[in-house]
Amino acid sequence: RQKSDLRARRILSRSTFATKAQTVKKVLQQAGAAADDKESFSAVQEQRREQAERSVLINCPPNINQKRFLDYISKHGHIQNHFFYQSYGVYAVVEFSTKDSITALKANCTIPSVQHEAAVPFKSRLLSLKWTGQAGQSSASSTLKFQKLLPIPINELTQHLSKQESIDQQLQCLSDQYQLTEENISLRFLVCSLLRDIAAAYFPECIIRPFGSTVNSFGKLGCDLDMFLDLDGISGQNQRKGSGLSLEYQVKQGTSERTVTQSVLSVIGECVDQFGPGCVGVQKILNARCPLVRFAHQPSGFQCDLTANNRVAMKSSELLFVFGKLDARVRHLVFAVRCWARVHGITSSIPGAWITNFSLTVLVLFFLQRRTQPLLPTLDQLRDLADPSDRCIIEGNDCTIVSDLSKIKLQENSDTLEMLLQEFFEFYGNFAYSSTSINIRKGKEQNKPESTPLHIQNPFETGLNVSKNVNATQLERFVALCRESAWLLEQKEVLKRSTGQSADVIPPWGLAALLLPSVAQSAGVKGRKKKKHHPASERIKNLLESLKSNSGGAGAKPNTV
Ligand code: GTP
Ligand code: MG
Repeated sequence: RQKSDLRARRILSRSTFATKAQTVKKVLQQAGAAADDKESFSAVQEQRREQAERSVLINCPPNINQKRFLDYISKHGHIQNHFFYQSYGVYAVVEFSTKDSITALKANCTIPSVQHEAAVPFKSRLLSLKWTGQAGQSSASSTLKFQKLLPIPINELTQHLSKQESIDQQLQCLSDQYQLTEENISLRFLVCSLLRDIAAAYFPECIIRPFGSTVNSFGKLGCDLDMFLDLDGISGQNQRKGSGLSLEYQVKQGTSERTVTQSVLSVIGECVDQFGPGCVGVQKILNARCPLVRFAHQPSGFQCDLTANNRVAMKSSELLFVFGKLDARVRHLVFAVRCWARVHGITSSIPGAWITNFSLTVLVLFFLQRRTQPLLPTLDQLRDLADPSDRCIIEGNDCTIVSDLSKIKLQENSDTLEMLLQEFFEFYGNFAYSSTSINIRKGKEQNKPESTPLHIQNPFETGLNVSKNVNATQLERFVALCRESAWLLEQKEVLKRSTGQSADVIPPWGLAALLLPSVAQSAGVKGRKKKKHHPASERIKNLLESLKSNSGGAGAKPNTV
């Protein structure tokens, strides 16, 4: 705190607007955020998990008055934080200062008596607030501010982007619009914590941890919630030495790690299905490479994937988190490339032969390691900086990375986002895919060990290819789009925002122009409606004409994906 205050004062002494109290507060916040930025992955996750355990999720009547709500709930304990959102009704997340308040609150809750049906009397922290009697049912929902859970539609996004002054600003604007909010992340941790209460019926010491884009700093609003059931804490060794005796639990033996994972997930999945309030459409996908239980958590609207025994994926999330925290440009470029890939059908929410968001992120990281002045260190460098306490071996794989981010010294690199975006497309538009493997551990191209079209070495399980699923057609589409986008970013009509326009009718330019429908979509993801095929040259001609005429006309209609 002292350090960040000092930093804030230094910034303030340079600021010409330093007189305004508001500026002071903002700068203090920024400096605080900068200090937090160096916090280790596990510290951040642990703090959020602990907050979630002190929180409840309450379905509210639609006409609830905020003050009345808070007065009533705070009778049970001090409220540290709260927010509202809408998803199949109005919901409030309430974080108390201490866990005891939840016990007090639950002591006042009743199991509803339902007519014609019977209720499973499971007392979770998912509650409903009801009016009793007539007492002052106010209609003051307008006073509630709702947190958004979903991103703005792509056509609104392109309008926002077109209003920016530079391509760098456009990339920052895209991350601002798409990234998970603090509240959204809190809700994700709360859902994990609610599910943990269900799994705790079998394994009282278990933890359900979110991984993937919820925690890797590249999460987009609306992304799925990947969770893993962590039972490792349970099997911890704390034998008393010296007595010559020890006690151990008698346990059931499974034929393999995999079969144990499958049976654990099977019963937890059953429990979530039968007893989990708000959990619907539960599917047990136990024969997948990584067995999982998939379901929708209706009160939050999250699509959930629950896995177990998946520590490498957690470590991959930490690795991405570290890279994302080192330099703000990393996140901006990843958000832009992910969005570009999604609108052009390079990635899809349906599993298949296309590139995944995870692979795409690794492509961006590798590109940033390959700059003349590398913007990111290699994974081997992150391992070499690690303390002995960071050592992490999972199933024989060395997954060690430094946890103290302040130990990582970056090289000077002043590349603009515009430059990075353009050169990303050039880099992958001309990459030697047939002979070369992408390797972020070494930060260098390696000889390809197998003949799959695209080879991206798994950072931790180095014998595996992250993009094994990608077929030649999908790789060709990616390369074609990279080339087309690189070419577009060389055109002066695309590069510069047209002047003399009213703010509402600025034709798409820069990043917004790259998000317009493309020819490569015609060969796109199966199951999509086939788009009319236009040769690339015709599409680009249309686009340029529309940009020149400053009308944003037919050729430049925003994509509706
Ligand atoms: P979203 O598309 O926003 O959900 O991104 P995500 O990063 O969460 O990806 P996804 O839900 O597909 O996968 C969750 C996590 O599993 C990823 O962050 C990775 O840690 C891991 N993962 C996904 N795909 C692969 C893969 O092909 N190989 C490996 N090793 N890990 C993967
Ligand atoms: Mg995910």
